[in-house]
Amino acid sequence: MSNNHKTDKTFTLINDETGDRIKLPVLEGSEGPAVIDVRKLYSQTGHFTFDPSFTSTGSCKSRITFIDGEKGILMHRGYQISDLAEKSTFTEVCHLLLYGDLPTRAEKEKFEHDITYHTMVNEQINFFYRGFRRDAHPMSIMCGVVGALSAFYHDSLDINDPRQREISAHRLIAKVATLAAMTYKYSIGQPFMYPRNDLSFAENFLYMCFAVPAEPYKVNPILARAMDKIFILHADHEQNASTSTVRLAGSSQANPFACVAAGIACLWGPSHGGANQAVLEMLDQIETVDRIPEFIERAKDKDDPFRLMGFGHRVYKNFDPRANVLKTACDEVLEDLGIDDPRLELAMELERIALEDTYFIERKLFPNVDFYSGIILKAMGFPTSMFTVLFAVARTVGWISQWKEMIEEPSLRIGRPRQLYVGPKSRPYVDLDDR
Ligand code: CMC
Repeated sequence: MSNNHKTDKTFTLINDETGDRIKLPVLEGSEGPAVIDVRKLYSQTGHFTFDPSFTSTGSCKSRITFIDGEKGILMHRGYQISDLAEKSTFTEVCHLLLYGDLPTRAEKEKFEHDITYHTMVNEQINFFYRGFRRDAHPMSIMCGVVGALSAFYHDSLDINDPRQREISAHRLIAKVATLAAMTYKYSIGQPFMYPRNDLSFAENFLYMCFAVPAEPYKVNPILARAMDKIFILHADHEQNASTSTVRLAGSSQANPFACVAAGIACLWGPSHGGANQAVLEMLDQIETVDRIPEFIERAKDKDDPFRLMGFGHRVYKNFDPRANVLKTACDEVLEDLGIDDPRLELAMELERIALEDTYFIERKLFPNVDFYSGIILKAMGFPTSMFTVLFAVARTVGWISQWKEMIEEPSLRIGRPRQLYVGPKSRPYVDLDDR
């Protein structure tokens, strides 16, 4: 197979009206379904394809992440997510996503140094926080402060310089965690805790969130490992809505800090990263096990907008491989903390009933990663409003790796979808007095 992934297969498209035929090339990647190359479709036929929500559209070539939704497979650079979650650390996975390989011992040491070197944020950024209301949603603060990084790091904004791209990637991975912790501290009125570079990424994050200057703080290793796993499991997920947002923003050559802020805005929605917050809110709403059937019926009712949050996935149609890993981590954390959260019992019963119900079975609606992550994060002491922020901390490496891959693609052009226009046809302008 050549470098452009062309095969000798084609699809023939026949115009039923004129009988005109065109052959469309078929491209094959290393895994997954082949794609029909429609790039010349408009010039050859005068037609666009119509695919709102992009359910049949491959928007780019990528070497980073592969998902097989039917088989429940998620791989980063060829490594299974379950292996990475069990055997790797988040910083190793960051290296893998960004550079294509797991680091050697020496590379790991250097990379960890490079990331921790950038954990502090410019002191001026502290003042930004004071402009926000204390009860602001943490994601609203994150959208603002991450975008604002572009106002501070002028020396890494030239997207055509590979070294500047690399520094901005390191800065984003490191600083988004610090900003997330500051957002939490601000919301509860506690002083910001400066990062500690002697700790691992996950340990440092827990420290910045839960330590206070008044007393020593010892990071619980079980919580640190669970945090690290949550970060690994959310690090990248192929061309999902927020990643596509980052790529589209980046295709205009916007700077990476602005692009990641756009990704954060997209992630905020309850159909995407906001789902883990929505799971907890739903469990609170259900309240008791005996009310589950009522909510299951509501989820099935087409006239009721209620959906079972944490169930279903656009791509995974059998199981979400991240959910399996997290379910185990969830048990470990709850056992270690000795937490007997009634919501857990509620969640398990909801899971059991939904998995036996034909509506959910027929539509292949299984618990997704957000179903379990919310429960662990709550047990760790994070308020629900912080859940999506933690997702953003983890996903920043995915966004920036995908952005970097796109910028390094020689054939990069600005992304520009087309449309099926269904508005009024051209009509004469009507003067104000005649309307
Ligand atoms: N509860 C009840 N019914 C559902 C649900 C649900 N959670 N999800 C899908 N359905 C039904 C839907 O009504 C439709 O039924 P019908 O065929 O009778 O019209 C069918 O299942 C297919 O749904 P869809 O809307 O076409 O599925 P989608 O692929 O567009 O949506 C989804 C995927 C994740 C947005 C959706 O399943 C959902 O809203 N789930 C709840 C929110 C959630 O947990 N989101 C987190 C996703 S995982 C995190 C991430 O990777 O970002």
